Amino acid sequence: MRLDQFIASSSPLSRKEARRAIHAGSVGVNGEIWKSTGTHVPTGAQIILEGRQLTLPGERYLMLNKPAGVVSATRDNEHTTALDLLPPEMTRNLHIAGRLDADTTGLMLLTTDGQWSHRVTSPKLELLKTYRVSLSTPITDAAIEVLETGVMLHNDPKPTKPAHVKVLEQQLIELRISEGRYHQVKRMLAAVGNHVEALHRQSIGKIVLDLTLEPGAYRELTEQEIASAG
Ligand code: URA
Repeated sequence: MRLDQFIASSSPLSRKEARRAIHAGSVGVNGEIWKSTGTHVPTGAQIILEGRQLTLPGERYLMLNKPAGVVSATRDNEHTTALDLLPPEMTRNLHIAGRLDADTTGLMLLTTDGQWSHRVTSPKLELLKTYRVSLSTPITDAAIEVLETGVMLHNDPKPTKPAHVKVLEQQLIELRISEGRYHQVKRMLAAVGNHVEALHRQSIGKIVLDLTLEPGAYRELTEQEIASAG
């Protein structure tokens, strides 16, 4: 890997800024100042930028407590995105594994590992996702039965897979589903004549939203959490 590329991958600097830093003599490689941007970095070399050792980041895996109003995009000119909530040096090559609507809150997973996010979102793995759903009208026994059997969604030829409903209050349920179709929870509740007032994702598979995370806060996943989605 070229030196400028290494710096751009392991620090907040862009490639252009990295080249400037190299020319300015701010970069040391194995104890020597290197001023050539295109030189290849020897394997295992110690790279110092302005006195700070840089390491190439490995894959990153994060959970974010997504607040309402934040969009599931990496870039958006009008709205705050999930990536805007993270420190810039964390966001390189990061993508969202399982989008949420702008008004949905709760567990969002972000990673640099494309294969992992593919597994997390793959319909084949059928990872269970748990949502807390506030409803505009009380849930009925008939609606629960339909949701737990499988419901036909508007403009969708296949019924949903059986869901699991836990009634917390008349207008508050926990819904567990194994699929991730577009606006699935809202469409499921609409199909049984109700309406979602607020939606919050609590878990994906064995990864449960950390209750110590305030809305907008994030943390890295533990090795166990990462492995649980493998
Ligand atoms: N289902 C929805 O309708 N919206 C979400 O954000 C997630 C699941």
